[in-house]
Amino acid sequence: MTYDAIPGWFYPIDQAGFAWTLEFQNDTAPPGDLLELGTYLGKSAILMGQKLKQGERLTVCDLFEDVMTWDGANPVEKAFFGTRTPTRDQFEANYRAFHPALPEIVQGPTGSICQHVAPGSCRFVHIDASHVYANVREDTASARKLLQENGVVVFDDYRKPQCLGTAAAVWEAILNDGLKPVFATDAKLYATWGDPEPLRAAITARARASDWCRTGKPVAIRDMQIIRLARHGK
Ligand SMILES: C[S@@+](CC[C@H](N)C(=O)[O-])C[C@H]1O[C@@H](n2cnc3c(N)ncnc32)[C@H](O)[C@@H]1O
Repeated sequence: MTYDAIPGWFYPIDQAGFAWTLEFQNDTAPPGDLLELGTYLGKSAILMGQKLKQGERLTVCDLFEDVMTWDGANPVEKAFFGTRTPTRDQFEANYRAFHPALPEIVQGPTGSICQHVAPGSCRFVHIDASHVYANVREDTASARKLLQENGVVVFDDYRKPQCLGTAAAVWEAILNDGLKPVFATDAKLYATWGDPEPLRAAITARARASDWCRTGKPVAIRDMQIIRLARHGK
């Protein structure tokens, strides 16, 4: 199986965003665990697993085949997953094609994640499960609790018209709850409750050194800055 053949919504620009963020942390941050809320068939989890250091743990949380019967999804999400229900078996087979051991798997709603992961234990959290406002808000609160100082949270679909609930939860956290944006791609926003500057500088340097992507000029929002990471010509 090739990585590109795994279905999912994890594009090369975010494969770079994840890899560069995790490699920056590997070089500069204390050890910490990785967490993914919303795993589907494992495309982003497989890359996260590749950046684990000795002794660190990746936990993934997904309803898998229970997504259709879970009562917290709205009709739009149910319609979406009706034709694409992921199964845990498919996820495990995909993950095992790239790694010798599975990650910790929590099969259940992301709202239960704080019962499985210790406060302050994570350096990186990817929020990509339900895109309903109340659920993303709850996942954001969990990320804040579970992240270590300067840990990074990544939100999927923070700006799509079909995902206004995610947009609302993300900007509420930025404008009211001290979350600081670091950089954004078309699909994902990378942020921290710690110091955003060192990671922003590292991403800018990695983009400059690459021949296929770039960062734009910083955009000011109140006293914060955010940069866009994009392919050349986009
Ligand atoms: C957009 S997909 C994740 C994509 C994946 N990160 C990738 O890169 O391919 C969203 C996943 O979240 C799961 N999901 C949706 N709502 C959930 C919830 N409340 N709790 C746990 N998992 C949920 C779905 O089963 C689905 O697998």
